[in-house]
Amino acid sequence: MDAIRTITTGFLGLGNIGAGVWRLLDEMGEEIAAREGVRFRVKKALVRDTLKRRDVSAPPSVLTASADDVLDDPDIELVVEALGGEQPAAEYIRRALTSGKSVVTANKLALATHWQELLETARATGSCLYFEPGVCGAIPVIRTITDSLQANRVERLYGIINGTTNYILSKMSAPFAGQGSASGATGSRGVSYADALYEAQRLGLAEPDPTADVEGGDAACKLSILSTLAFRAHVPLEGLFRRGITTITPVDVAYGRELGYALKLLAVAKRDGDRVQARVHPTFVPLSHPLASVNGSLNAVYLYGHACGELMLYGRGAGDAPTASAVVSDMIAAVREGCVGGGDAYRMTGKVVMETDWESRYFIRMLAVDRPGVLGAIAGILGRHGVSIASLRQTVGNGRAPLLFVTHIARESDVRAALSEIDESLAAIENVIYVEEGL
Ligand SMILES: NC(=O)c1ccc[n+]([C@@H]2O[C@H](COP(=O)([O-])OP(=O)(O)OC[C@H]3O[C@@H](n4cnc5c(N)ncnc54)[C@H](OP(=O)(O)O)[C@@H]3O)[C@@H](O)[C@H]2O)c1
Repeated sequence: MDAIRTITTGFLGLGNIGAGVWRLLDEMGEEIAAREGVRFRVKKALVRDTLKRRDVSAPPSVLTASADDVLDDPDIELVVEALGGEQPAAEYIRRALTSGKSVVTANKLALATHWQELLETARATGSCLYFEPGVCGAIPVIRTITDSLQANRVERLYGIINGTTNYILSKMSAPFAGQGSASGATGSRGVSYADALYEAQRLGLAEPDPTADVEGGDAACKLSILSTLAFRAHVPLEGLFRRGITTITPVDVAYGRELGYALKLLAVAKRDGDRVQARVHPTFVPLSHPLASVNGSLNAVYLYGHACGELMLYGRGAGDAPTASAVVSDMIAAVREGCVGGGDAYRMTGKVVMETDWESRYFIRMLAVDRPGVLGAIAGILGRHGVSIASLRQTVGNGRAPLLFVTHIARESDVRAALSEIDESLAAIENVIYVEEGL
């Protein structure tokens, strides 16, 4: 029988994810040793408060409040980073890599913000950096892109990559699941954004401060990493366009549903030659598309490669056990690959220019002044800016007429220019939502 290797490991963080990894190793350690020939011995785990009660079997001697106990210990070969936040996590990852340790991180913020520096450090030192758990939890999307799609030019990538916002939007759409039609103006609607957020917080699906999720920051970090790997060119976080879901109302969701769309916080990345657009925003997707049926806190990534065609990965994007599944998988990969594969797997081949203007269809909802000629004036403004109307719906309001336009493909800059000309004497713009038909 082959000998089983023991890898001395250090944890940075023993919160939701760190503890989840600990429990999964407790549960699966012997099976993993038998199957993979490796056993992980956790020597030290960095936490803020060593006296806090934790739902893990870690003995008190393992806990430390000093990062040096992990980062400066030459016995520790592998570091699992699950601290969260940009700093000191990024600096600790850099230090671990510099001293020749391999790192598995669940931290998309630290990684997306310090991508170049951390990848270069890994390459320079021959250490490995793994981050499957940081992007969509249990879904093996990083490995799929880097290890299964090398023969493809990935041209388009779409993701529902934040479970909190998907849960909230699903709740806001709830009455439509299996029920009859709903009139956007008068019929049954989903719960409000505030109520759906409250429910997500109550279930532990949203943080007490939900900003990073609901404003799209978390999804932007993941999209930066995903599109960088898919396009093999750095797509910097600061080059991404991002809009969150806080202005979405049940009325938007209801109207979209009547028009045949589901509303998602969609991450979109497209490459055309050396031009890339990467954006995260609320988006209507056709109900017939597989992404439309990704509901609740589930995640999915849908991409198109020139050889593989369409491909969709779907599953749990967060939670302690699903994320721990990806962490342990990366830990095993670090051992299997002899801790030299990581840097090369993420080799970049070119530079791209980030697009700041793009084409899309738009859903524009406004409350127009109820006066003859107003509709014509609004249509005229849109037309002058090259924004043509694919469908229009007008309902009866109380002094104000709710108007709903869906445009043909139009340029973002043209839509913005047109809307800036529509002032209060004509209408109040209530919401503008992207419509992605060509998925
Ligand atoms: N939660 C998820 O479902 C999920 C999914 C995928 C990825 N992630 C990512 O995983 C990472 C960890 O998330 P989490 O939910 O496990 O967070 P968490 O529950 O807040 O745990 C953080 C842990 O790090 C420790 N810590 C934080 N800052 C520290 C510092 N400066 N010095 C020493 N210890 C420090 C905390 O110590 P104490 O315990 O003493 O407070 C705690 O043990 C984040 O990057 C997150 O984005 C989370």
